[in-house]
Amino acid sequence: MSDFDDLPELVMEGLNVDVDVEPLLVDALGTSALNFEKDAGDNEGNPLTSQPTRPSPRRSSQRISMAIVKPGAIEKQRRKDKSRARRAWRRQNTPLPALPLQYRPSNCAAKRHARLQFIKGKLDSSKLPAGIWVGKRRTRPSQRQWTLPELKEEGFRIIEWRGDEPQVLVDSEGRIIAVLAGKPSDPDFDGAIARADAAMVHARIVGKLNGSLPARPEEHRRGIFSAIPCGVSFGGGQVEPGNLLHPPKKQALLNDLLDNPAIQRLAGFQSSCLGFYFPRVYEDYASNLFPLYEHSPHLQPNFPDISIYPACTFNLGPHTATFDHTDAANVPYGLCAITALGDFDPRKGGHLILFDLKLVIEFPPGATILIPSSVLRHGNTPIVGEGSGSYRMSMTQYCAGGLFRWVGYGFKTAKTLLSEVGGKARKEAIDGKLADRTAQALALFSTIDSLADDRSSVFGVSFRQ
Ligand SMILES: [Fe+2]
Repeated sequence: MSDFDDLPELVMEGLNVDVDVEPLLVDALGTSALNFEKDAGDNEGNPLTSQPTRPSPRRSSQRISMAIVKPGAIEKQRRKDKSRARRAWRRQNTPLPALPLQYRPSNCAAKRHARLQFIKGKLDSSKLPAGIWVGKRRTRPSQRQWTLPELKEEGFRIIEWRGDEPQVLVDSEGRIIAVLAGKPSDPDFDGAIARADAAMVHARIVGKLNGSLPARPEEHRRGIFSAIPCGVSFGGGQVEPGNLLHPPKKQALLNDLLDNPAIQRLAGFQSSCLGFYFPRVYEDYASNLFPLYEHSPHLQPNFPDISIYPACTFNLGPHTATFDHTDAANVPYGLCAITALGDFDPRKGGHLILFDLKLVIEFPPGATILIPSSVLRHGNTPIVGEGSGSYRMSMTQYCAGGLFRWVGYGFKTAKTLLSEVGGKARKEAIDGKLADRTAQALALFSTIDSLADDRSSVFGVSFRQ
């Protein structure tokens, strides 16, 4: 009997945005390839290190590799074997952790997210910006912040959303390309949201006091707010992936956040949403990241055994609202998970803007949304009522595309590969044709009809739809 046998008849519908994601994905794949050639990363100016940045529990994959018997340590090995046997017994008798391919969405999550809402209505793609649907984009993100009245003026469609009932966004070919995942119905989760919020506010205040964050948020590529990225990344002229490095005081702030159980719960939910709505993308992440961690055990994902995502950014605000942008350094077909936090009126500000789809989505505090952030131009409206104590923060998880390229090239950069004898031909063979890469990437997106089968295929879980 599976975990899902007691589920009611499921309804799987979504918001049809009547656009084909393929041309946008082609653009994102092309940009990603260029980024890797240029050795560009998503480090936000932070250096990478091959040293551990924080004490953390070993990943399961590392625990498995610890089974090697060391000469002269037989007794120690026996104790380890017993311990391993106990752990194996516990694993069989406790819920599976969120390990890739062993992960299964919890029954609670499945009940909550199996019944998806549908908003009828199609966009008129002929009114969308010229050139955006075919080939390279002629318009690039303007890196400006858009207000709700401006977007209404431009004819954007407002999606009212309370942040609880899940909704999927479906493209004209029936692919699920984004999800308004909401939050679990478990009342304890509301407590986790409140505690995560408090921890991030605390980090911002302490950071300002000890000088590890600027007294006034400075403008950066994505907006004017304090942000701390962390985890495993690639780029910045490095020859291999590394852990994002911060000065000790800022790292101490990060460690407190990463060790916070409420933050971990949010991270786990974000990762579960990726597995639940994008099982084949999740599988692809696992098939790249596990070899990466095996090859480079010094890499420290933020939430081992909790989240598949290797990197995370805490956008501490106090008025987090991103400019119009795409995250070109992320995996082109990947999904960025965003959880909004803070105290603000989501009907007036803090909306998620999806420029390519001409949508403005209400994004209440505590809710989670997953979008293909390399593919879709996105941003936020500013919150209203800043002077009255309103604030907005967000926690995002994502994956740098350079990591997968580095794995794909045999744990080396394009430059290194090209410097080897026969490297050019090997690189061309690995890269393949853009059309083939596009087809492979598109196949990772489930349709409403295929989602249940894709989940079953990837996670070995069968349940009705
Ligand atoms: Fe983004």
